[in-house]
Amino acid sequence: MTQASQGEPLVRMEGIVKRFPGVVANDHVDFDLLPGEIHALLGENGAGKTTLMNILYGLYQPDEGEVYVKGRKVKIRNPRDALRLGIGMVHQHFLLVERHTVAENLALGYARSQVNPLNEIRDRIREFSRKYHLDIDPDSYIWQLSVGEQQKVEIMKALYEGAEILILDEPTSVLTPQESNELFSIIKKMRDEGKGIVFITHKLAEVFAVADRVTVMRKGRVIGTLPIKDASREKLARMMVGREVIFTIEKKPSRPGKPVLEVENLVVLGDRGREAVRGVSFTVRENEILGIAGVAGNGQKELVHAIVGLRHVKSGNIRIMGIDTTNKSPREIADLGVGHIPEERLKFGIVPNMSVAENSILKSYYKPPYRKGFSIDYSKVRELAEDLIKEYNIVVPTPDTPAKLLSGGNMQKLIVGRELKRKPKLIIASNPTFGLDVGATEYIREKLLYERDEGAAILLVSGDLDEVMQLSDRIAVMFNGEFVGIVRPEEVTVEEIGLMMSGVRLKEAVS
Ligand SMILES: Nc1ncnc2c1ncn2[C@@H]1O[C@H](COP(=O)(O)OP(=O)(O)OP(=O)(O)O)[C@@H](O)[C@H]1O
Ligand SMILES: [Mg+2]
Repeated sequence: MTQASQGEPLVRMEGIVKRFPGVVANDHVDFDLLPGEIHALLGENGAGKTTLMNILYGLYQPDEGEVYVKGRKVKIRNPRDALRLGIGMVHQHFLLVERHTVAENLALGYARSQVNPLNEIRDRIREFSRKYHLDIDPDSYIWQLSVGEQQKVEIMKALYEGAEILILDEPTSVLTPQESNELFSIIKKMRDEGKGIVFITHKLAEVFAVADRVTVMRKGRVIGTLPIKDASREKLARMMVGREVIFTIEKKPSRPGKPVLEVENLVVLGDRGREAVRGVSFTVRENEILGIAGVAGNGQKELVHAIVGLRHVKSGNIRIMGIDTTNKSPREIADLGVGHIPEERLKFGIVPNMSVAENSILKSYYKPPYRKGFSIDYSKVRELAEDLIKEYNIVVPTPDTPAKLLSGGNMQKLIVGRELKRKPKLIIASNPTFGLDVGATEYIREKLLYERDEGAAILLVSGDLDEVMQLSDRIAVMFNGEFVGIVRPEEVTVEEIGLMMSGVRLKEAVS
């Protein structure tokens, strides 16, 4: 912290109001960020966190209120203005160009006028990599990187552009526990250099792990800002939801029935052409949740994509309810009664430009009751959308709102609702609660358990170990394209699973 900046906030936002049609996303919000602090921003889905930070980053103009950067009143008209003021942001959904390399992406975002040969950029990338332990190869293509690595590229980009103020919007929702810890040490290092970091999250444990102060928002308003030493889990949860939150859920013993999903010696190629799934076999039965734990990038994504028909199977086979579905199309597989809650929401979950109503029938528009002759019965579609909005508490002005305008968590609630509403016999859920607030997480987990008790077979892939432990009847740990073992949650500790995630074989498989 420099002498001059002592006490002077890096950022001060005062009386910020932002209205969207039908909703006040920010309602007279005051917020400040000090040099050398990590300031957590907490709040339910749709509370207005991303909106507030988008204003600071110049993506939105406030309807009312002022922004000061280092004591000076500023008008931030666009992200370029923000960068000039030293403000960088890593979004909930990344904005990298997949066809380009890391170095090329940095060159693209480079706003200054001097020439920047790629070689120089490469050198800087290596320098930041060393300094912050980012471990990024400047010549990798973005599409080859795991989500965790892509995020590091985004952080790198902000650092490269000289950010002193870094906004991270739910950075860990896509990371494994290990990657999250790496991220924490990166941002702590930045904090110790006097930078200011806004850290948006839903995970209370993370607030206590990294934050110096925390601000809680609810329904567009700030409920309070407090130093971390004055906060507790219960207190923050209560401020967020406005009621007490129970952190444990009831789970009945499972009574596994007939096999629903049978996977045999499955081999699937990854993007880089090598085998991402290397001979995996398992069965998921009715009334059972099989959890897959593992560090992202160990073949889970490819496994899921092969099962739902989004990726070619090289060898081995997949049967769903006794029917061979190996290399069948996504629609054929969905029509068997398979629900897919994908990890990549904007790619496979929703069509961003279509309305919430249209998105709610994505998997069934070609079937009755939605299809009437050659057209679609919009009153039926609306009815379904209104049901989903009510049942899943989706915050949205009307069913006709484009899905891309939903907050991250509300988008996820829409996808989960749509998939479960079809009463699938097999549910493939990839990180179903990422980005969801405590209340919604609780709700979705209870729904999954309910579907299991109703007889569904569920394959749950999750980077959240607590979630895997809490929901699964059996847990498969995936490492380097293979199952290291299949265990029962009551027979292992989180630490043991952690070890297995690094490839150590601890327990014999349970069938
Ligand atoms: N461009 C937009 N047009 C219309 N409404 C919007 C727009 N952006 C956000 N909203 C609405 O503003 C409210 C606040 O959304 P915001 O994305 O800021 O919430 P959030 O706190 O970040 O939630 P989450 O935790 O789910 O990401 C929501 O009701 C959202 O639907
Ligand atoms: Mg958000």
